[in-house]
Amino acid sequence: MSNYHIKHLEEYYQVYRKSVRNPEVFWEEIAEEHFMWRKKWDNVLSWDFTKPEVKWFEGGQLNITENCIDRHLHIRGDKTAIIFEPNNPEEEAQHISYHDLHEKVCRFANVLKEQGIQKGDRVCIYLPMIPELAISVLACARIGAIHSVVFAGFSSTALSTRINDATCKMVITSDGSYRGAKTIDLKGIVDEALKDCTCVESVLVAKRINTEIHMEKGRDHWLQPLLDEAYTDCVPEIMNAEDPLFILYTSGSTGKPKGMVHSTAGYMVYTAYTFKNVFQYLENDVYWCTADIGWITGHSYIVYGPLCNGATTVMFEGVPSYPDYGRFWEIVEKHKVNQFYTAPTAIRALAKEGVEHLEKYDLSSIKVLGTVGEPINEEAWHWYDDNVGKRKAPIVDTWWQTETGGMMITPIPFATPTKPTYATLPFIGIQPALMDENGHEIKGNQVDGRLCIKFPWPSMARTIWGNHQRYKDTYFSAYENKYFTGDGALRDEVGYYRITGRVDDVIIVSGHNLGTAPIEDAINEHPAVAESAIVGFPHDIKGNALYGYVTLKESGEGRNHDNLRKEINQIITEQIGPIAKLDKVQFTNGLPKTRSGKIMRRILRKIAGKDISNLGDTSTLLNPEVVQDIIDNAL
Ligand code: WT7
Repeated sequence: MSNYHIKHLEEYYQVYRKSVRNPEVFWEEIAEEHFMWRKKWDNVLSWDFTKPEVKWFEGGQLNITENCIDRHLHIRGDKTAIIFEPNNPEEEAQHISYHDLHEKVCRFANVLKEQGIQKGDRVCIYLPMIPELAISVLACARIGAIHSVVFAGFSSTALSTRINDATCKMVITSDGSYRGAKTIDLKGIVDEALKDCTCVESVLVAKRINTEIHMEKGRDHWLQPLLDEAYTDCVPEIMNAEDPLFILYTSGSTGKPKGMVHSTAGYMVYTAYTFKNVFQYLENDVYWCTADIGWITGHSYIVYGPLCNGATTVMFEGVPSYPDYGRFWEIVEKHKVNQFYTAPTAIRALAKEGVEHLEKYDLSSIKVLGTVGEPINEEAWHWYDDNVGKRKAPIVDTWWQTETGGMMITPIPFATPTKPTYATLPFIGIQPALMDENGHEIKGNQVDGRLCIKFPWPSMARTIWGNHQRYKDTYFSAYENKYFTGDGALRDEVGYYRITGRVDDVIIVSGHNLGTAPIEDAINEHPAVAESAIVGFPHDIKGNALYGYVTLKESGEGRNHDNLRKEINQIITEQIGPIAKLDKVQFTNGLPKTRSGKIMRRILRKIAGKDISNLGDTSTLLNPEVVQDIIDNAL
């Protein structure tokens, strides 16, 4: 039996028991036998959730890119590391071998150094899904610079907030991006953002769509000529196990995004180990995750986890609907994809278009299907199972978060029997707990509560960049000595977990994590708006959509509501991005509030979800009269 590769349910239970009875011994063995270290650690784990402080493999030294690239060169140097599938199916796919990747990452790393980037500097990456995105991430890691990838669908305001928060010295971007039949002027968005950023000294620009763009003298440089000039080898920077590898922002319950900081060694060990087991990846398999590298799913399971295992990982630039809804399946057939990982929202969108799009393609290469990002409903689960997996490919419903770095609750395919809508069992080393409202752990099965994790795991985020107190308050203060996930969950009669959704002010729309506060802040900037509240309501494809309740100032009364709706969505698009646009906007005379002035979102959520049978006691509200009015005018 190998602890690194689990194949049967019995093995899972055995390894799981080992991993929780003696986590240090367990993780030490995994780390020692399957990774390349420059110096062994002194201490496997030290932790204190009250501070909170967690350190894995302290004293160990390594470079993650040696693990992702160099160590593969002599055994699988010519193997394809990355398959790049362009937006336009007419454009040829690129196959980047491990040798090619080594050279490209080294050249890029040398360019970063020549531009004055040093170990510990922050580099913002704002790129579409082109090879330069994966390569620049790895180039930063090669020299010990901390990357902060910002999803290239975010607006200029969202981008500048993130650049400033991490005081990035450099931005890496492209002239523009393709998205289906559209192009997006990325460089224009960067230029706009940089008006508010004094920390950025240089901008590297990849050419993708060949548009005429403004290049700021002294600041902006075309990337390709610099790469052409650079040396093809770059000695990796030796990093300490706990040195930050990257920052990735996630939204929270206040306006400011949280820059989650991930460490080097623990993150590497856990993402590689989960990748191997949760996808049962074998040497000649082709693996495809449809996420964008701008999200944690892409960091952990397009770049680091797969490459660390010497896998072939597909990077797709486009969208599922272009040139038609058969695109995903065309790609699966073309590259003979063995493991396919996507989000429930994509599955629902594709299911809606009908099975004729799939029937044209040979999907027989598929061995394992995965889903992530939000709860998957039963209908979508069966559609995926029946039509994509032909009931032969187990579905791994993987629950995890930006903060957890890697998968936490998930089946291991061919070992864990799956159950629709259930993420099933905790992964090796993960110790979940369900908590009641009084802060007590709920033991036993057939129970539900708030999901916490009781013991550290290697890839947990170590802090929020520049704000450790907020890290403590958000994740370690709700329940003593536990990490609080923000999710609710239930545990069934055999101990399987089902994630029921967020229990805080975060709404998951199309698999994207959106805090209500930043959206409300944006809306409130409209001169006619007095106040607003955002809630989620069920949506066939997006899972949840956003419903906004907006109270106008006196000056706004009498204004055309349709125009106001457009203006509000325009502000949201500018400040956050189109993903945060509201599906419905209801103008109200007031918002229901508690006596302490807190908006009662519970009531608003019920009204938005057309579930007003049981609103609870509204008489304790400060202004109970607004409730009926809101119900009468609900959309
Ligand atoms: C939140 C984290 C982890 C990568 C993508 C999202 C929800 C995630 C599942 C799942 C039910 C899920 C949770 C979680 N979520 N996966 N399989 N079943 N819910 O990362 O943006 O940090 O969002 O996504 O609510 O807390 P994220």
